[in-house]
Amino acid sequence: MIDPFGRSITYLRVSVTDRCDFRCTYCMAEDMEFLPRAELLTLEEMERLCAAFIGLGVTKLRLTGGEPLLRRDVMRLIEALGRRLGQGLEELTLTTNGSQLARFAADLARAGMRRINVSLDTLDEARFARITRGGRLPQVLAGIAAARAAGLAVKINMVALKGVNDDEFDAMLAWCGARGFDLCLIETMPVGEVTHRAETHLPLAGVRAELSRRWRLTPSPHATGGPARYMRVEETGRHLGFITPLSQHFCASCNRVRLTCTGRLYLCLGQENAVDLRGALRQGAAGEELAAAIRRGIAAKPLGHEFDITRVAVPRHMSVTGG
Ligand code: 5AD
Ligand code: SF4
Repeated sequence: MIDPFGRSITYLRVSVTDRCDFRCTYCMAEDMEFLPRAELLTLEEMERLCAAFIGLGVTKLRLTGGEPLLRRDVMRLIEALGRRLGQGLEELTLTTNGSQLARFAADLARAGMRRINVSLDTLDEARFARITRGGRLPQVLAGIAAARAAGLAVKINMVALKGVNDDEFDAMLAWCGARGFDLCLIETMPVGEVTHRAETHLPLAGVRAELSRRWRLTPSPHATGGPARYMRVEETGRHLGFITPLSQHFCASCNRVRLTCTGRLYLCLGQENAVDLRGALRQGAAGEELAAAIRRGIAAKPLGHEFDITRVAVPRHMSVTGG
């Protein structure tokens, strides 16, 4: 699938639930209203849509949320998708907050997953509870340890927050290095209504300059098919990535689209236009008809977002569209 700007779309991110057991301050409001269950795609519908995308040239699938491992019976979907590895699908992966990983890590590896992203913004227990509004750090650390023990490659995603965790980049880099994990720093994006986002926004260019005074960071061609730009950390042999949607956006090389848990296909994280694939599915679209609905979406993929941290770009939260 080639979009109007000549970009080849090979990567689908699927939000399998908008629910989460955490309420990270930059992601969610304190009291979130979640979607009624009837609006959610069933796992079978998700699988059918994923299959249609694979048929159209998608080679990489990432399950996100919300917290994907909170979706009931999610392993059924993961196992079904895992069976498509090597049949057009090249990679199946997951972004998780880690809270359920201790329970799921071995099954994920068995289903064919090779690497996962775990969100972890701090290594301090009290701070973790504050950022996630009640999350328990030891539970997440146990999950990460289980993932490592199961042989999954782990990348840690850390949202950089001014005045909140900006004194922890060195510690996190060392912690990841000691465990063989890559680390990716992320700038906050203005999606979904939350409080104090602009005040905690931290452009990463300065962070990189600061870190390179203490670490030997060399530019790396490492690429995972996502938006991060990577440096190699010579001291640890691992990678340090930067996701900088605001200070240096990467829309020109965008290769991805997003499917929400309600079956809406969003063409860009920061834009409103979408195609209702649930409607198409439930009206009986299959085969060529479903493919045509997907292609209509791709044909409307915008050039990029116009993020401005002082203003919410789209009202839907990251947990709906899929981070
Ligand atoms: N800006 C940047 N990152 C966000 N995430 C959730 N909401 C936002 C936001 N507004 C992150 C999570 C996770 C990833 C899926 O997206 O922390 O690491
Ligand atoms: Fe949940 Fe991830 Fe959002 Fe935190 S950032 S509330 S863990 S979906």
